[in-house]
Amino acid sequence: MAQKDVGNKVPIYKLKETKEVMEFYDEWGLNNKYDKDMEEWNYTGPKETAEVFARYQKNKNIKIYDAGCGTGLVGLELKKYGFSEFYGADLSQKLLDLVPSNLYKKLDKVDLNKPISEREDDYDSLMCVGTFTFGHVKPPALDEFIRITKNKGLICFTINEGIHEEYGFDKKIQELTKENKWKKLEFFKSDYIASKDVNAWLGLYEVTK
Ligand SMILES: C[S@@+](CC[C@H](N)C(=O)[O-])C[C@H]1O[C@@H](n2cnc3c(N)ncnc32)[C@H](O)[C@@H]1O
Repeated sequence: MAQKDVGNKVPIYKLKETKEVMEFYDEWGLNNKYDKDMEEWNYTGPKETAEVFARYQKNKNIKIYDAGCGTGLVGLELKKYGFSEFYGADLSQKLLDLVPSNLYKKLDKVDLNKPISEREDDYDSLMCVGTFTFGHVKPPALDEFIRITKNKGLICFTINEGIHEEYGFDKKIQELTKENKWKKLEFFKSDYIASKDVNAWLGLYEVTK
């Protein structure tokens, strides 16, 4: 299920190593091809997550960590709702270079499968869109996301339906809920890249640590 070739050079489900993933995105950024493809494919991840996030997060004056920000599509969508303080992190320097200038306060080249060099409770909320997919960022990153987010902050993410169980995201989410690290506000199947028949789970959780 969901091992679909979305029309890029290497089918995304074949990616395994972090280095391969980085090269994949560095190349996809050439001539702005990533943004062009996302528009052509009607990729709705950033729009759907921003809409759900804004429904719950009424204070616009907050610090938001965008984990796997790519070219900044999530920042662009959140800006439409009046949010403005974005801090982006991504593995691909080439994609980070394409983020519109002044949209993010800070952009860091980061491997989110490793401990994140950010202080505990530094962010009011966190977004992670399109980044939990084949060979990308694994479930332990959720511990780090909770660590750097303040109590009562929101964590909004998508998980490609094809890895949700295979990579153990289902179990990790249950475990964090059982341990009272966060509580569910929303969890549903989103459209994501419906034009390519690729769907994702969309989650919105409130940190309760
Ligand atoms: C499908 S793109 C989504 C980008 C952006 N959030 C969006 O919605 O357009 C997935 C992103 O995850 C990043 N990524 C993959 N593995 C990563 C890792 N280990 N650490 C940090 N970022 C990673 C890629 O570089 C890419 O920008």
